Amino acid sequence: MSDADFTGRAAIVSGGASGIGASVTRRLLEGGAQVAVLDYSAENLARFAASVAQRADQLLAVEVDVSDSAAVNAAVADFTAQSGRLDIAVANAGIGGVGGVAELDDASWRAVQSVVVDGVFHLCRASLPHLVSTGGSIVTTSSISGLGGDRRMAAYAAAKGAVINLTRSMAVDYGRRGVRVNSVAPGPVATPILRPALDRSTELSETYAQRIPLGRIAEPDEIAEVILFLASERASFINGAVLPVDGGLTAWTAQPDIVGSADFPETFAVPAGTMLTDRATEAAEVPGATA
Ligand SMILES: NC(=O)c1ccc[n+]([C@@H]2O[C@H](COP(=O)([O-])OP(=O)(O)OC[C@H]3O[C@@H](n4cnc5c(N)ncnc54)[C@H](O)[C@@H]3O)[C@@H](O)[C@H]2O)c1
Repeated sequence: MSDADFTGRAAIVSGGASGIGASVTRRLLEGGAQVAVLDYSAENLARFAASVAQRADQLLAVEVDVSDSAAVNAAVADFTAQSGRLDIAVANAGIGGVGGVAELDDASWRAVQSVVVDGVFHLCRASLPHLVSTGGSIVTTSSISGLGGDRRMAAYAAAKGAVINLTRSMAVDYGRRGVRVNSVAPGPVATPILRPALDRSTELSETYAQRIPLGRIAEPDEIAEVILFLASERASFINGAVLPVDGGLTAWTAQPDIVGSADFPETFAVPAGTMLTDRATEAAEVPGATA
């Protein structure tokens, strides 16, 4: 449970009707904020609004596709006219797209860029003038897929990489005007984006459990908590940061287990203290050296 107090604050969350965004929005509402959720799914919006019905007076649910700049401008203008201010923008809406570069047609490439990159750009552009006047803050949801490549996710990885550098650019441009801009880069999270893949293959969950040092994928609340920390005054000197929230996945080089691990007793485990060198071999490989 987040203990942040957002009383008197106004926030916008794109993609706020499901998954990570819904968790962020719920916590903002519980913290006392006025929140506008911009989401293109009427079904998700209705379900989410029903789940926070006791806070209905704090919530504005707007059906908007973030790839449509005019619609985003209008939604931000309507909300700020009502709330009289804007303190936090969470640019979180995103979709994935499957394919290596040679497999992707123009439409599939554009679909991902228009939501992930253009959508963040549209929301931030519309929000920044308001955030400058309140000394507010932006948090983008990028991904660890923006920090490195993933197989057959070229459009998504390129788009999330762009979100990361867009975040840094905004941090540089608007820091002097009192606006902090940061990004959370989640690893795998149990939300509808990933759920079908997890449901298709139990192997996928097991592989994640093995590869993620914390041994599991994240829950949406665990990402939302970090987004809200970065958005709050508790992070008053954090600007331009890209924070992986991935259970340690990107701390790893992804090499196979070279020497085994006590955590996985079914694998071989080379005894601790074994030196991974052979002095004779090492010496022989130094030009001119004698063993
Ligand atoms: N789930 C993961 O494993 C994971 C990992 C890394 C990053 N992310 C990122 O986290 C963010 C949130 O994803 P999530 O996992 O909560 O997924 P989700 O599908 O549960 O939620 C995404 C929400 O965004 C909305 N949305 C999608 N496209 C939109 C558009 N064009 N305009 C407006 N709303 C739109 C959807 O309707 C949905 O309500 C995304 O940017 C995603 O790329 C997710």
